[in-house]
Amino acid sequence: MKQLVFATNNSHKVDEVKNKLGGLFEIKTLSEVGCVEDIPETSDTLRGNAGQKSHYLYDRFHCDCFADDTGLEVEALNGAPGVYSARYAGPGKDSEANIDKLLSELEGKENRRARFRTVISLILDGEEYTFEGIVNGTILTERHGSHGFGYDPVFQPDGYNCSFAELSMEEKNKISHRGKAIEQLIRFLYVTK
Ligand code: IMP
Repeated sequence: MKQLVFATNNSHKVDEVKNKLGGLFEIKTLSEVGCVEDIPETSDTLRGNAGQKSHYLYDRFHCDCFADDTGLEVEALNGAPGVYSARYAGPGKDSEANIDKLLSELEGKENRRARFRTVISLILDGEEYTFEGIVNGTILTERHGSHGFGYDPVFQPDGYNCSFAELSMEEKNKISHRGKAIEQLIRFLYVTK
């Protein structure tokens, strides 16, 4: 089976991606290919950051690879935290603190509409391709559920009466931003491979 390196060490993301792509490619993580440094993410767009990570990996390891970058875009906050979602409450990338800040910024606001957006940058045989996935929903007023990661406990996808953190990984993957972006990637791989 051909190898594809996923530019992350986030075990939740790896599980979600392997759940969809595992039958097609052998997915390797950064640590598994010996990339131990923190890859810079200095762009002010998701597309820019995803590309920065995939090119960083390709330039050093010359492997087929892909990277994702995800942002939570909240209508009442003019799209914030967006590309800065990981460091919303500070450089520590603390998910609990990020959720606390989000809930306090939305206190008293009627409009709690939000969306997750993922951009994937794939480098295959030296060429870059990008894919995007979006899921719309609302920000709950308190945390629900214990599955998933990041902002999952406060994000309720449209058409559901529960948070992402109350869904199983498989259920989240069917409708999520990352799941949709990966599905596009899979369709592309089936056409080109
Ligand atoms: P990144 O794509 O790893 O840079 O993620 C940016 C921020 O969004 C981090 O705070 C993540 O925890 C959060 N995040 C990324 N993907 C998800 C998801 O699927 N659910 C909830 N939060 C996420």
